[in-house]
Amino acid sequence: MRVLVVGAGGREHALTWKIAQSERVEALFVAPGNAGMAQIATCVDIEPIDIEGLAAFAVKNDIELTVVGPEAPLISGIVDLFEGRGLRIFGPSKDPARIEGSKAFAKHVMQTSGIPTAKYWVCDTPSVARARLADHFQNSEAGAGVVIKADGLAAGKGVVVCQTPEEAESAIEAMMVDKVFGDAGNHVVIEERLEGPEVSMMVVTDGNTIVPLLPSQDHKRIFDHDKGPNTGGMGAYCPVPFLTAETTQLIIDTIIKPAVSTIRELGIPYRGALYAGIMLTKDGPYCIEFNCRFGDPETEAVLPMLKSDIIPLLMGTLDCTLEHVEVEWHEGASVSVIAASGGYPGAYKTGMPITGLQEASGVEGCTVFHAGTDLTDGVVTTAGGRVLAVTGLGQDVRQAALKAYESMTHIKFEGIQFRTDIGSKAEN
Ligand code: AMP
Ligand code: GLY
Repeated sequence: MRVLVVGAGGREHALTWKIAQSERVEALFVAPGNAGMAQIATCVDIEPIDIEGLAAFAVKNDIELTVVGPEAPLISGIVDLFEGRGLRIFGPSKDPARIEGSKAFAKHVMQTSGIPTAKYWVCDTPSVARARLADHFQNSEAGAGVVIKADGLAAGKGVVVCQTPEEAESAIEAMMVDKVFGDAGNHVVIEERLEGPEVSMMVVTDGNTIVPLLPSQDHKRIFDHDKGPNTGGMGAYCPVPFLTAETTQLIIDTIIKPAVSTIRELGIPYRGALYAGIMLTKDGPYCIEFNCRFGDPETEAVLPMLKSDIIPLLMGTLDCTLEHVEVEWHEGASVSVIAASGGYPGAYKTGMPITGLQEASGVEGCTVFHAGTDLTDGVVTTAGGRVLAVTGLGQDVRQAALKAYESMTHIKFEGIQFRTDIGSKAEN
């Protein structure tokens, strides 16, 4: 089978790494890929958002399966375009991908399906938003905050958790008046603020059958103990020891299944990876968000735990035969730690040579996935904010973290920063 993976981050390296292990794969391409993916696949210089260019490449190169990593091409309709040309591709089509592309659509699906989620209001003008906020801050219990979300893609930054009316006002001003997220600020969703630990639940679905992947937990803040600004994710572990089998099933039954059925009833079945961001509140699991793809860095933690071949899972999704696909997991746990460029999530330099990659990968039970890396004159250099995802496996989260951090000691580049507490919340 000839396979193309679309994307260039740690998630895509993990997907490519897992796909490369399948005996069914005879040729593997990545567009555009990174220095790590270049070691196991052929890099093609086409950006993920150039969906026409990708389709032309797939036709010309007899690609039998395309797997899309990031959300932007899915939301732009890469799946509809490929299917229109008779090409097979893993991911939801444009209409259901709105579950991530529009916060308002996601909330609509949640409300229609009875999925537990924060109360919300969609506001189309700053004055409506201000009136909502005034009402909220006058009538809610003291200290009950709000969350303001730009209604579109904002590179993971369009969500502001606000405790005071002043914070809320400046978020409205920034999003709706100053348009710091562009058109995503034309509408905002104002939500009640929920509290509790967060977990990530990823599944693969063909629109009927749901195959849950192991639950995981992301670490969004840049510094240890969840301090500092939000990032694209600084590390993840899996599974989540404090999430019982009963609660996991409750998440599937009350959040994932209703979303998949509602989307099917709206017309176009959801086929692909579906990611639910969950908050475990005192009233049970609530859905914070849906993503139309695998999570990053969750994928770098979850895929190394997958024992079975990934190709039947991907093809079963396209063929609507997931009910016949058996999925096996390794025992134990995994921890993935992100090495980021100095200054990230703010401004950072690129082009720093990276050393110790081979030694790091040589630590038993460890894999180094590349995110923002490049090959410059035969030397691997930094090329992004998040640079590497170092994943360790162990008999439990603590052992897996020890492995990941042992591996990380070998990696050096100027300005390197990583959290030292990935996995520590597993013992909650
Ligand atoms: P989202 O992009 O919707 O996942 O939001 C990003 C982050 O904002 C989440 O991971 C939460 O930490 C936080 N967040 C979003 N919605 C809420 C909410 N209703 N209550 C509390 N925190 C939230
Ligand atoms: N880890 C969060 C995300 O992939 O959106």
